[in-house]
Amino acid sequence: MTTVRQLGVLTGGGDCPGLNPVIRAVTRRAILAGVTVVGICNGWKGLLEAETTPLDLQAVSGILPKGGTILGTSRTNPYKHPEDRVRLLENIKRLQLDALIAIGGEDTLGVATKLAQEGVHVVGVPKTIDNDLSATDFTFGFDTAVNIATEAIDRLHTTAESHHRIMVAEVMGRHAGWIATAAGIAGGADVILIPEQPVDLEEVCDLIRQRYARGKDFSIVVVAEGAQMKKDAEVTTAEELDEFGHMRLGGIGHLLGKLIEQRTGYETRVTVLGHLQRGGSPTAFDRILGTRFGVRAVELVLEGRFGQMVSLQGNHIVSVPIEQGTGTLKTLDMELYRIAKMFFG
Ligand code: F6P
Repeated sequence: MTTVRQLGVLTGGGDCPGLNPVIRAVTRRAILAGVTVVGICNGWKGLLEAETTPLDLQAVSGILPKGGTILGTSRTNPYKHPEDRVRLLENIKRLQLDALIAIGGEDTLGVATKLAQEGVHVVGVPKTIDNDLSATDFTFGFDTAVNIATEAIDRLHTTAESHHRIMVAEVMGRHAGWIATAAGIAGGADVILIPEQPVDLEEVCDLIRQRYARGKDFSIVVVAEGAQMKKDAEVTTAEELDEFGHMRLGGIGHLLGKLIEQRTGYETRVTVLGHLQRGGSPTAFDRILGTRFGVRAVELVLEGRFGQMVSLQGNHIVSVPIEQGTGTLKTLDMELYRIAKMFFG
């Protein structure tokens, strides 16, 4: 079995609350085992540029409640250009990294999968506020995002009620309606629209009209940014793609707000929550999950179980092959949506 003396850790993709608790737990657990930890700055970009920072007790002190990632992040794809892949492998050797912990979503863990196939000693930690990674019941960041979105819906309720308006709240969720549905249930939304089901505008307007007919002269519509109008393409705000080929989403809320107002004649306002859902301090749930993931990830390294990622199943932290997390997206559990729908209108 490989003796791990030095361990690299990086965070890639969109940031999310809970990353710092993972970095802290990785560092603390590794130090307990006598392993030195090297923080790699800005995801795979930092490994390409050999930009690192030492992680010791002092470096991770006080970061548990902090949002974002002290290591920085990027959406760099080292497999986009063949020369980058070579440089990455060289730098792993040059920096004397006996193993690597990659904390990220589908793209970062996709790269980790390829590296594992090339023989690099890598362990994955799944993260995304969208909660759409397979093989884990939850990812950290999701709970914080849901709490922020729920609070926003509560606030929209009081102003909607006062002005007798329709409020459309656009939340994140590129491919999956987890945040929209969870926050929509918790916040008592009157309609929830998700990427898994094309938006039927007439149905939405009918639900709102029915509410007015029974004396409810305000409504809250929650829409996931990845939701699509029937027959329309994804609504985007920018043309450019990132290095993994993803469009920047956002805009469905405004389109929907305009169409609902036109069709129903009721005054409508739109709030796009955007990155507020990713910023700030993680909830206790996300701090605990991040801590458990970080500790277990180091233990997988110590056990020589590379090519695995940590995962929450039930209330247990287990390990699964990294590719299981990224192979297919975990779209919304439609049983949850069925429950949400009972409160529509
Ligand atoms: O993947 C997480 C996520 O927050 C998505 O919900 C959203 O579409 C995307 O990241 C936004 O990415 P960026 O921060 O690059 O705009």
